[in-house]
Amino acid sequence: MRRGFLLASALRPQKERTTLGQSQWYITTPIYYPSDNLHVGHAYTTVAADALARFHRLRGESVLFVTGTDEHGQKIQKKADEIGQSPLEFVTKIVEFIQDPLWKRLGVSYDDFIRTTETRHEQVVQAIFARLVRQGDIYKGVYEGWYCLPDESYWTESKLVDGKCPDCGRPVERVKQESYFFRLSRYQDRLRRYIVGHPDFIQPTSRRNEMLNFIDAGLEDLSVSRTGVRWGIPVPDDPEHTIYVWFDALINYLTAAGYLQNEAQFEAAWPANVHLVGKEIVRFHSVIWPIILMALDLPLPERVFGHGWLLIGQNKMGKSMGNAVDPIELLDRYGTDAVRYFLLREVPFGADGSYTEEALVLRTNVDLANDLGNLLSRTTAMINRFWGSKVPPLVAAEDDGILAGEAASVYREVEQAMEQLAISDALVSIFRLVGRANKYIEEQKPWDLVKQNQTVKLGNVLYGLWETLRIVSVLMTPFLLETPEKIRRQLGLDTPVSRYTEAVFGFDAKGLEIRRGEPLFPRIEPVEAPKSAEEESDLIAIEDFQKLDLRVGTVRSAEVVKGADRLLKLTVFDGQRERTIVSGIRAHYEPDALVGQQVVLVANLKPAKLRGIVSEGMLLAGSADGRLSLVAPVSPLPEGARVK
Ligand code: MSP
Repeated sequence: MRRGFLLASALRPQKERTTLGQSQWYITTPIYYPSDNLHVGHAYTTVAADALARFHRLRGESVLFVTGTDEHGQKIQKKADEIGQSPLEFVTKIVEFIQDPLWKRLGVSYDDFIRTTETRHEQVVQAIFARLVRQGDIYKGVYEGWYCLPDESYWTESKLVDGKCPDCGRPVERVKQESYFFRLSRYQDRLRRYIVGHPDFIQPTSRRNEMLNFIDAGLEDLSVSRTGVRWGIPVPDDPEHTIYVWFDALINYLTAAGYLQNEAQFEAAWPANVHLVGKEIVRFHSVIWPIILMALDLPLPERVFGHGWLLIGQNKMGKSMGNAVDPIELLDRYGTDAVRYFLLREVPFGADGSYTEEALVLRTNVDLANDLGNLLSRTTAMINRFWGSKVPPLVAAEDDGILAGEAASVYREVEQAMEQLAISDALVSIFRLVGRANKYIEEQKPWDLVKQNQTVKLGNVLYGLWETLRIVSVLMTPFLLETPEKIRRQLGLDTPVSRYTEAVFGFDAKGLEIRRGEPLFPRIEPVEAPKSAEEESDLIAIEDFQKLDLRVGTVRSAEVVKGADRLLKLTVFDGQRERTIVSGIRAHYEPDALVGQQVVLVANLKPAKLRGIVSEGMLLAGSADGRLSLVAPVSPLPEGARVK
């Protein structure tokens, strides 16, 4: 256990954080566009940031965890105009929903929620803008080029892809207007050197390499003001211009830290330790943002971590209408902990991952209901039967050390994983401990120990299981909200978890009595996999089509089948041999008229007997309104030619 402590201090990041209130772990999520389409993909970022914030609080560190909303811009103005509301009225309703119920029910324990429409923020943005103008980092010029309205971004000709916006693929429009420019070019080399010299600044490494390539392609000065966008922060002393939304939005990280408002708070909080962002906005956070900070002579954040996307099939959730999964519906159906567990555990943090409801149900059933739930119910049942519900004492000298050893390794692994933001790995480790305890029951067979009167051994085994569950309840605290308390209630513990260091084997449980209770996670009936669009519409894959062997043939002879006035018996040459084909086309074709005609036949159809004649294939024909026509090549082809 000792090693756990050493490691904890070795991992302490650059900022001195030992004195509570003096310095902080500053963790941010992006600030969200107020949209009525917030989905599980958005919840992914906030829940991950929340787990990180809770982890550091549990380690006794002071945390400033900030999220918020990015409320300016033309899109918002347009939507508000459409429904005849002021932009502020329009966004405020959405913002309130985001705060409660959305983040509240997901347990997002932010310390500050910043809205870019707040005066504190507008003042900071204007002060920064004015300073950068004074310094010559921002200058006024004329912008001529392409503009993507939905993204509110300018593009030069060379950056367009097929004449469209390189980010979203939508059409762009030609504009020429006065604009303020931010001299990114001035900082290009300095930024490159910084990124190269600070390997942990942009993570994961793949995103770092992408950014270096982006910088190497050359940074052009960035247009940071718009004319004609009313809904934005006015440029100081030039109110015709409003400040570009991304410039405005990024500065939220400074505002929330107290920049230019509360020096002591800012001192403690800045630089931010982790900006958690989705991969598509890493560029804003690792190019524009650090250059703003360099221009302000401020230290850069320690880490910009670009996580992957939740996908539906191959597409980003939220990208297309109708693929956004509503988090509130999921919370209603499965509860906060199942949803949080799934988001944090399912996909290695950093990578893209698929979302399906079946996967969520499976995770809940297997890990939470089965592995964890069963460990708790078996352990409490055995303590109840074999030890009169009292928690047995540990006789340390007689202990095999198996669970204690495993718990100590997991303690360290969780710390290390969280340090690297490998959140799902932390959960994998915790569940390895759960799995080890379940296996321990099978190995030790407490029911046999009872029969053999091995009381000390039995007590140690039961204590070990109880103690493992207690440790699990501590380790799980940053990730799951209700479950740790539920476990502890059944273990007979009335105190909530308060420190990570409580996850150390050997707790004195004297006098405690277990309280058996409800199953931790009742099994969920697996949901039926929804049919994909293809299945729904009975589309077939190309491979299915390729199973058909369609060939051109020529009719060599044709006669009416006796006693069946709808059928013709044809002899068709398929390039290799003559086949007999019986076809129901008598009403539409005179036999003689068919001789010499090219047709298309299905050459790999199982032979079938019709009126005593073996038919070796079938002819393709189309029909409509009672008329029927054989299908044939428009111009003749050699017999045997494949039709595909
Ligand atoms: N307003 C900007 C951020 C400004 S920060 C200074 C923005 N907002 S957003 O609402 O579009 O996105 C917020 C976060 O949600 C981003 O980190 C984004 O990557 C994340 N996600 C949106 N859809 C997502 C998925 N399908 N999967 C995972 N995260 C996704 O960008």
